Amino acid sequence: MELKIYGDPVLKERAESISDINSEIEGVVKEMFRVMYEAKGIGLAAPQVGVSKRIITVDLGNSPLALINPIILERDKEKERMEEGCLSLPGIEVDVERPYRVFIKGLNLKEKEVEIEAKGLLARVFQHEIDHLDGILIIDKVSFVKKQFLINKLKRLLREKKGYEAPPMGSAL
Ligand code: CO
Repeated sequence: MELKIYGDPVLKERAESISDINSEIEGVVKEMFRVMYEAKGIGLAAPQVGVSKRIITVDLGNSPLALINPIILERDKEKERMEEGCLSLPGIEVDVERPYRVFIKGLNLKEKEVEIEAKGLLARVFQHEIDHLDGILIIDKVSFVKKQFLINKLKRLLREKKGYEAPPMGSAL
């Protein structure tokens, strides 16, 4: 599996829930960690490797975590702004406002339900990855004009990158 870049339709789809955590799902998770670490990422969602299923992986450097069917149970009212990047939008950064603290629920690979209270960067990563499962990218969080600007910048960056074949962007705005 390889990292999917903006323009690939899988990134805009709503990913499917998982009813059975079988060896196929375990295989996807393994690939997600491999791709995430190779790209030096701290979070990844399955659509980013072309799999439209509700799986995220997170590792801020201390404990790798894979969550199946993650949902946000509760969000703090207190919000924080921070520059965010995305492995599927190489070279693009967007200032995104998100709740500072969230409660997340999901299943681990042993089909056990886990609840996590996350703050700061960890809370941000969870929210970013769960957005991916709903087909939402960070460039969807800015004005139309700013989004066009960022998409043009991304196209330019992808063109300039030698040896990289940019996916067709078409009218996928
Ligand atoms: Co992302």
